[in-house]
Amino acid sequence: MRLLVCGGAGFIGSTFVRRRLVDHGDDVTVLDKLTYAGRRENLDGVLDDIRFVHGAIEDQAAVAGAVSGCDAIVNFAAETHVDRSISGPEEFIMTNMQGTHVLLEAAREHGLRYLQVSTDEVYGSIDSGSFTEDSPLQPSSPYSATKTGADLLVFSYFHTYGLEALICRGSNNYGPRQYPEKLIPLMILNALAGDSLPVYGDGRNVRNWLYVDDFARGIGHTLAHGQPGEAYNCGGPEELENLEVVQRIIELTGADPALVEHVTDRPGHDRRYSLSSDKLKRLGWEPQVRFGEGLSQTVQWYRDNAWWWEPVRSGDYRDYYERHYGRALKV
Ligand code: NAD
Ligand code: DAU
Repeated sequence: MRLLVCGGAGFIGSTFVRRRLVDHGDDVTVLDKLTYAGRRENLDGVLDDIRFVHGAIEDQAAVAGAVSGCDAIVNFAAETHVDRSISGPEEFIMTNMQGTHVLLEAAREHGLRYLQVSTDEVYGSIDSGSFTEDSPLQPSSPYSATKTGADLLVFSYFHTYGLEALICRGSNNYGPRQYPEKLIPLMILNALAGDSLPVYGDGRNVRNWLYVDDFARGIGHTLAHGQPGEAYNCGGPEELENLEVVQRIIELTGADPALVEHVTDRPGHDRRYSLSSDKLKRLGWEPQVRFGEGLSQTVQWYRDNAWWWEPVRSGDYRDYYERHYGRALKV
């Protein structure tokens, strides 16, 4: 298949690209703006096997150049960090909504199949039970609101123009190459450096953890077997409270448990996410990696790949960290 993978230099997109090359022998073009979260290093070892276009999804000319000759678009490109969306929502609106619109227009013009990578956060928080694809959309942060807006736009292109458009909604991903602003890589790197482990609020918020390769396969499965006009949830096998996740990272890294520090809660912090993935499972997808196994592989990857994260911890990220957490970071 000839795929245009937007946001393919990010955490999940680069994992998807690797899998498509190895498992399917696809012809892949990556279109990526290379924001702070997008790095050519994420495509280390496969850059020679793909076409890489540096450009933004909201830029019609860049999209027109990248899409030519492709059979399908898979869109990972997004601003993805909830805390950043709270301090500055503008880029989220531009990329997540306007950018999706430009891609949908390109898919319509060329008659392409289109897969939007989305998130469980579009459903909001749930105290008990699990969200299905029929649950109401009740996003709470600027990030999740823009992802929801994009999902609605995707469905409108199916209903109005008959575009072959599908959505795959993932739960919280973890694994190699995740930017260390997100809970798991942040805690791993802080634990290895002996920095404090900043837990928001009481730390009892629950997330449904999904190993990144399982999500990459779920997205590929939706692309191949999903019905246009439908959304498919893709959730991980385990739900854990944040404090439990941090505790496991302390055990795996040998860090001092006294490093845990409860800090000011995130405004509007969603309490619990939980996805039912029965619809995607009926198409034949199953998560393969349990949390214990995936977390230990992830800790090992960060231990072995200081070359990947050292430039991040010593660059602009330090300023972000100091502004956000009000303290300096050890490097
Ligand atoms: P990420 O932040 O690691 O990567 C995002 C990528 O998009 C980067 O390569 C970045 O350079 C690129 N990008 C950003 N703005 C762009 C623009 N305007 N034009 C082109 N490229 C742009 O994100 P991720 O964690 O890999 O998430 C990928 C997708 O999966 C997102 O759509 C996100 O909403 C969704 N998702 C993420 C998770 C998760 O837990 N990380 C879970 C479910 C769904
Ligand atoms: O659920 C899918 C979503 O998961 C994706 O759509 C988002 O792109 C992705 O960023 C992620 O959102 P979360 O807000 O759930 O992930 P994050 O890693 O930022 O936080 C996970 C939990 O950990 C959350 O309850 C907040 C908490 N947390 C986070 C950080 C960064 C802390 O307690 N301390 C921290 O320093």
